[in-house]
Amino acid sequence: MQEHELPEPEATRRDSGVTESSRANRGWWDRNADEYQVEHGTFLGDDRFVWCPEGLDEVEAELLGPAEDLKGRDVLEIGAGAAQCSRWLAAQGARPVALDLSYRQLQHALRIDELNSAAPFPLVQADAGALPFADASFDLACSAYGALPFVADPVLVLREVRRVLRPGGRFVFSVTHPLRWAFPDEPGPEGLSVSASYFDRTPYVEQDEQGRAVYVEHHRTVGDRVRDVVAGGFRLVDLVEPEWPEWNTQEWGGWSPLRGGLIPGTAIFVCERDERG
Ligand SMILES: C[S@@+](CC[C@H](N)C(=O)[O-])C[C@H]1O[C@@H](n2cnc3c(N)ncnc32)[C@H](O)[C@@H]1O
Repeated sequence: MQEHELPEPEATRRDSGVTESSRANRGWWDRNADEYQVEHGTFLGDDRFVWCPEGLDEVEAELLGPAEDLKGRDVLEIGAGAAQCSRWLAAQGARPVALDLSYRQLQHALRIDELNSAAPFPLVQADAGALPFADASFDLACSAYGALPFVADPVLVLREVRRVLRPGGRFVFSVTHPLRWAFPDEPGPEGLSVSASYFDRTPYVEQDEQGRAVYVEHHRTVGDRVRDVVAGGFRLVDLVEPEWPEWNTQEWGGWSPLRGGLIPGTAIFVCERDERG
């Protein structure tokens, strides 16, 4: 091992609170953003809105509404990474703001912007649990696997999103399908046998030799997510489970055509601000 290389973290299941999860994930995404963009950048495209490894594109899904209605709308993208989705939104005439916890991910957004001649939009480094915006600043919010799979308190995030949305505002977010937690995160046949309890909410944690978390993912069941949405002040309008399309032959970590043809990999929650709350 070279002197500058860190030892492999240990993967375990244990509790991890809001602060530890946020700190661990900011560090992980800063360290791994370059590799992530090399590995997935082509699939995501610089200015496409891809919801998930299945490849569902907002052009066909219209989960935020018809593309022509996006013109002039203020849209917050949470956990934006290199802001590919925001770039697509801007091309539809929307006014996106791309927010991410990771400075390095946002540097990739800047890198892509420099290659593009399109007008830039704001990039904001912040935690989804403490949004640095005034109440009622946005018409829509979206998150493609950003933040929600990684936070210890999803209701805190949902309440924040509700606060910054205008009345009637819509929030659409995709996460790993909760069913996946019962299976090994493997793309091949070994990923098809149940190996853990679906009902075990203990977070997945990678930790260093001192026991400090360096990466955290949080598990919620389908019912938990529905209750979180309601507790966050939203109505659930739809729950989309994209099927694996024939054209997509590409694996993404544990997501693969083999598993995608048999079990769901992604859950997309389509929510609207509940004005009774
Ligand atoms: C899987 S990437 C998704 C980004 C983009 N949609 C994509 O497909 O590449 C997850 C992103 O969520 C961000 N993230 C994780 N936890 C966050 C938090 N608490 N607040 C804001 N962003 C967070 C990460 O930094 C990372 O850029």
